[in-house]
Amino acid sequence: MKNRIAPLLSILSFIAFTACNEDAQTNTPNTDSSENKIFQGEPLSMEYEEKIDSLIAQLTLEEKSGMLHGTSMFATSGVPRLGIPELTMADGPLGVREEISRDSWANAGWENDYATFLPAGGGLSATWNPDLAYTFGNVIGAETRDRNKDVLLAPAFNIIRTPLGGRTYEYFSEDPFLNKKITVPYIVGVQENDVAASIKHYAVNNQETNRGTVDVLLDERTLREIYLPAFEAAITEAHAYSVMGAYNRLRGDYLNENEYMLQDVLRDEWGFKGFVVSDWDAIHSTVKALKAGADVEMGTNAPFDEYYFAQPLIDSVQAGKLSEEEVNKHVRRVLRVMYNIKSIDSTGRAEGSRNTEAHLQDAYDIASESVVLLKNEKNLLPVKLEEIESIAVIGNNATRTYAQGGFGAGVKTRNEITPLDALKNKLPESVSINYAKGYEENYVPANDQNQNYGRETIDELDENMVQEAVEAAKNSDIAIIFAGSNRDYESEAADRRDIQLPFGQEELIDRVKEANPNTIIVMIAGAPFDLQKVEKNASTLVWSWFNGSEGGNALVDVLLGEVNPSGKLPWTMPVSLEDSPAHATNSFPGDESVTYEEGILVGYRWFDTKNIEPMYPFGYGLSYTSFDFKSPKVNKEEAYTENDTITLEIEVENTGEVDGKEVVQVYMSKSDSQIERAAQELKGFKKVAVSAGSSETVSIEIPVKELAYYNVDNKSWTVEPGTYTLKIGNSSRNILEQINIEIE
Ligand code: BGC
Repeated sequence: MKNRIAPLLSILSFIAFTACNEDAQTNTPNTDSSENKIFQGEPLSMEYEEKIDSLIAQLTLEEKSGMLHGTSMFATSGVPRLGIPELTMADGPLGVREEISRDSWANAGWENDYATFLPAGGGLSATWNPDLAYTFGNVIGAETRDRNKDVLLAPAFNIIRTPLGGRTYEYFSEDPFLNKKITVPYIVGVQENDVAASIKHYAVNNQETNRGTVDVLLDERTLREIYLPAFEAAITEAHAYSVMGAYNRLRGDYLNENEYMLQDVLRDEWGFKGFVVSDWDAIHSTVKALKAGADVEMGTNAPFDEYYFAQPLIDSVQAGKLSEEEVNKHVRRVLRVMYNIKSIDSTGRAEGSRNTEAHLQDAYDIASESVVLLKNEKNLLPVKLEEIESIAVIGNNATRTYAQGGFGAGVKTRNEITPLDALKNKLPESVSINYAKGYEENYVPANDQNQNYGRETIDELDENMVQEAVEAAKNSDIAIIFAGSNRDYESEAADRRDIQLPFGQEELIDRVKEANPNTIIVMIAGAPFDLQKVEKNASTLVWSWFNGSEGGNALVDVLLGEVNPSGKLPWTMPVSLEDSPAHATNSFPGDESVTYEEGILVGYRWFDTKNIEPMYPFGYGLSYTSFDFKSPKVNKEEAYTENDTITLEIEVENTGEVDGKEVVQVYMSKSDSQIERAAQELKGFKKVAVSAGSSETVSIEIPVKELAYYNVDNKSWTVEPGTYTLKIGNSSRNILEQINIEIE
């Protein structure tokens, strides 16, 4: 790990450079809260500009073009005669992807490309723990470096607009504040390993249906307040070195041809100085894309010399349609990142490490804070081992793995502990396991399906398998059903068709519950499901994720009480799909274009403003202990001004019998606002460990600027004066205290 303090020299040269460069930085509101100061990344150092000038002067046009497009599946060309290596890339975000062949999507068949499988995005964000996001970034960054890659194509953090989104499992949240608080430390962690994070997918890539063509139409305020904050923070706070331009269009232009997004917002407003790489096969032109601000074209299969930034780029320069100066600008951005990650002049470059015990421990720590306890009415959990002799373990997900599956990037890992593995390892000899699979994961054959949507399932149960499960449940003291979905069912490139639980699981769950009232239902999934039937008469419900190499161990430790659950939902679980905003407004998936009719009312903002009861609210999750929040106070009685920071203190008391962790969540409401506002918006949170019977004082800093709305008229963030209510709770729907503040 590198020293986090940027050398003074590079800061000075950075300041000097911004004064004279084409990429000069403008002022943007600094919305960083000091609690996360530790997660400030290092800006790209500009001390290499002279060396870059000299290299550019020696490069031929062909060599420049080679540096600006894929000349193999995951790398651009180097120029060995000048000491410029290839720029190599690898997919995340679940861990570093296995090696892909140079000229096809086939697995390269290497033996030394194993990696640690880290929890998918939903699991990471459910921890509500920025420290763990930093840990995540640091592990995947070290593993990327150890695989000798320069660019990690991660994190992926588009806003979850609809529960159907195929990549919901991979993304973080429906809320822009939680999104940025997970994204920033993740990137800082990655880049400390001399690897560039390529943040994706910029921007409004919120559906997979028609993702390659769909034109996203949304108003500017919604774009700024909901869909861009995490990207903005990724650039202005974490200083991500690379951005991946998404497949879709925005207001008519493809993202990789979108001058407004690539030049005006990304570079002029946010001061981005790295390079934009296209999503694979997301470039549609040469001159327009380069001039708009795309730098590197990556694609799918060869022939690589037919890429828009290959021979057509050379032809465009020769035909006078593109200046060589323009080409140099893009090469400069690539070289700048290469110097910063020390892929050129590699003295002192971090070495990285991979598949270590420490990384497995980190994967375990993240997974163990991500499990969400939804319901525990009969106190079946934690399992009381001294009171039982047998457990029925039921369900395909008891033995399922998630490192691979579906379309898109996975991880080739040596370790993935399933729940059944973990139970076998952890249960004492006095407790026997009666395992029954219960259902098969069956799909309609691929040829018979509408390719635009997720896989169609066959939901009929095999009666023999059900009987086996029912018998196992009857003959056991308690039953645990591991249900949910998997990474073949939830996948990139296709949105789900609906949010019904597939494969006949609802009926199976009913029959098992009937056979044994002491049934614990564990959902393993990455996206919301309709739980109406499952919930009915269920006393005990747990939610886990595609949770990495140690997913099974972490989950079982929660079930057995070795770990007290502290995960919180990073999105709203609706009662039914029609309740969620994109569907209530009938504005998904569109056709050639999609209009985000719900505007700023995404996720809980919609449910809370429209008074719609969710199945489980955003931020929700129980513990084996109970907490009380007391005596909230703020640091100022008189009015705050725009540059102030509100420091909110609150006492969190653990009123139960066991130690636990709670997430204090602060939502802001402005009832007399002159503009449209959501009923409440998350503006601060902190996870805190409190021992049984004791109290901790939690301090949460909220810069007043964080309360701003995006004022479209003057294109700036504006803080409305007046009274604001800070609502403090442990979910968006369980507000325990509130406090009013004034802003001048
Ligand atoms: C995905 C990207 C990924 C790229 C390369 C695309 O299909 O959208 O997230 O990085 O493929 O595998």
